[in-house]
Amino acid sequence: MDSRPIGMFDSGVGGLTVLKEVMKECPNESIIYLGDTKRFPYGSKSKETIVELTKKGIEFLISKNVKAVVIACGTATSQALEEVQKCYNIPIIGIINSAVRYIKEKEYKEIGVIATTGTIRSKGWQNKINEIIPEATISYKACPLLAPMAEEGWTDNEIAKLTIKEYLKGLEDVQCLILGCTHYPLFKDIISKELGKHKELINTGEMLSKRLNYILKNNDIENSNKENKKHQIYLTDLETNFIKVSNKLLKDEDLTNNIELAEIE
Ligand code: DGL
Repeated sequence: MDSRPIGMFDSGVGGLTVLKEVMKECPNESIIYLGDTKRFPYGSKSKETIVELTKKGIEFLISKNVKAVVIACGTATSQALEEVQKCYNIPIIGIINSAVRYIKEKEYKEIGVIATTGTIRSKGWQNKINEIIPEATISYKACPLLAPMAEEGWTDNEIAKLTIKEYLKGLEDVQCLILGCTHYPLFKDIISKELGKHKELINTGEMLSKRLNYILKNNDIENSNKENKKHQIYLTDLETNFIKVSNKLLKDEDLTNNIELAEIE
């Protein structure tokens, strides 16, 4: 039993798609979420910058006494996870491994990946899929406009539909499509309509939250007492659409009063 919170980290609102799944899967846990809105977007930045920003984010969360860290960001997972796992003495998990293991279980062989430019460039998904499912064929596409559109709240308008139609060209034959950036589940209705309902969209938060639950139990650090649960959000810049997007996504969970400025240089 360990009532300390779980730390979660993303460049903005995208990680809330992971937070939503973690809340469902680990209902007793308190969560501290850090959105690095001041430095958004991460997708166009260099690997060196992403490693540096990820370390700062994790150190901030550790200063808040978290017991584990979830990197709820595809860009940071693909470019910084291995490095930060070596630096801190605390469980740190990202979005790639658990999703690829799930795809293997489902025996999908024609796999599509959409993600930020940095994630695609890093080959984080491609390498992990090749390692675990060597017979798979992978089609991938960088979709740099989608995360900024999600931050803007443009997830179900005509512009979103046209943008997704354009990005999905060449991905028509996949059996499943990995939403390799945590902002992308916000577009899942449009993507599913465009791609066809029988193709599975891989929402990485679902697999990650199950893995997290396992890690908490296995390390004997889950919180068995729901009573003292509290969620807290920190943003590095408060001038954002964060509240609007989070209210739309989390519906029943009003986090508006739990948002504070995180001063991270
Ligand atoms: N949500 C993030 C990801 O999964 C970051 C998007 C961005 O900041 O460009 O990649």
